[in-house]
Amino acid sequence: MTEVTAQIDAVLASVDAGLEQSLERLYELLRIKSISTDPAYAAECRKAADWIVAELKGLGFDAAARPTPGHPVVVAHGPDQPGPHVLFYAHYDVQPVDPLELWHSDPFDPQIKTDDKGRKIIVARGASDDKGQMLTFIEACRAWQSVTGALPIKVSFMLEGEEESGGKNLPPFMEANKAELGAADIALVCDTDMWDRQTPSITTMLRGLVAEEIVVSCANKDLHSGMFGNAARNPNQVLAEIIASLRAPDGSVTLPGFYDDVAEISPALKAQWAGLGFDEAEFLGEAGLSIAAGEQSRSVLEMLWARPTCEINGMIGGYTGDGFKTVIPAKASAKISFRLVSGMQPEKIRAAFRKHVEALIPADCTVTFHAHGGSPAITVPDDGVQLRQALAGLSAEWGKPAVITGSGGSIPVAGDFKRILGLDTLLIGFAQIDDQIHSPNEKYDLDSYHRGIRSWVRVLASLAG
Ligand code: BES
Ligand code: MN
Ligand code: MN
Repeated sequence: MTEVTAQIDAVLASVDAGLEQSLERLYELLRIKSISTDPAYAAECRKAADWIVAELKGLGFDAAARPTPGHPVVVAHGPDQPGPHVLFYAHYDVQPVDPLELWHSDPFDPQIKTDDKGRKIIVARGASDDKGQMLTFIEACRAWQSVTGALPIKVSFMLEGEEESGGKNLPPFMEANKAELGAADIALVCDTDMWDRQTPSITTMLRGLVAEEIVVSCANKDLHSGMFGNAARNPNQVLAEIIASLRAPDGSVTLPGFYDDVAEISPALKAQWAGLGFDEAEFLGEAGLSIAAGEQSRSVLEMLWARPTCEINGMIGGYTGDGFKTVIPAKASAKISFRLVSGMQPEKIRAAFRKHVEALIPADCTVTFHAHGGSPAITVPDDGVQLRQALAGLSAEWGKPAVITGSGGSIPVAGDFKRILGLDTLLIGFAQIDDQIHSPNEKYDLDSYHRGIRSWVRVLASLAG
């Protein structure tokens, strides 16, 4: 056995031996209610940032919670080392917990349970997205530090507290600290899925996002639907027509120009994805569905990873409480998002959407638009040295080749790393598709947490070369 493998084995043994204590630390973090979108939880966000700073200081990092106009960004630097300098990113904020009544236990009182497949799971808001995943990396650093007294490469951290609520303060923060943060050679992001429970993956394509809220207003007040029905325009009807106009029966999005800049994936990539052996029926079946709704000429993986979408995330209008009320509301609104793929420009799509909606508003009515963020899709080159090294590290841990995948989700910071800091990003995550992130009963497999830590131990070693 070489010295290096002996060292890695010792670090891995320390991960295994320290798992119980490591879980206790995860529970501590999960108990902090760092819901970034709700101002009522600002102090909890601060508390989460301070908690992480204390942990990182304990591991020998020069760490601080840096103020922004919103929640703090945790920045930390480890000592210099030969080899690449990595900037690790994760987010400590979480999504709101509603509807609370659908949770089987308190979302901020983490519990170990056994799921229906006999797996041990950690149930809590943020268990997977992204506190559990964030700690896989920090705990790998802890193991290296405790066994060898150092990390194999130089590690810096940038941990965000506003990812789930638009993250608008992060790009200016990165601009303002460009020299410091851009000193790294590559960014590591831990906020994505594994391919499946046995197969680690590096994600090289993420979709972008354009989010819009629209409010359609007709009468100047709510009206009795008997006294005004037919005479008064109903904004729910107007909104429904707008929404119905966004998709064609073949599943495509009808917004003019929507597909103009969409790049087709290469035949080679198509073939590689086909080789992943994705089971469409099983994927849809997990969600209680059997028929894919998108462009009928495309495979489900293409629909998810390589095709843009338009989704109606919420519709509000009129009386939605118990019982019945005969009303013509004054307003109706909707929250609509577009996921973008390579080539598409967020602001161009936003403008096309607004123009399309305005054309459908009757003379007597008005519409207002509220932008909720926009970020382009990102594609990471799949032939980089560090990507190859990281794949090798992952493959060593899992005893089978790690795969390269796309993802339908969005992580705006990945584009910002390139645009602002000039850094490429490796998206390496250990979440599972059924973690129920953003939903009630979010969970993280105890095994994913444990193997995630082990995987980072190996990836850090393989990046050291
Ligand atoms: N971690 C997710 C993104 C994700 C999920 C990537 C699953 C890959 C697989 C992230 O926290 C998230 O929820 N992103 C938001 C975007 C944000 C701008 C609100 C998303 O994708 O909706
Ligand atoms: Mn996330
Ligand atoms: Mn999320």
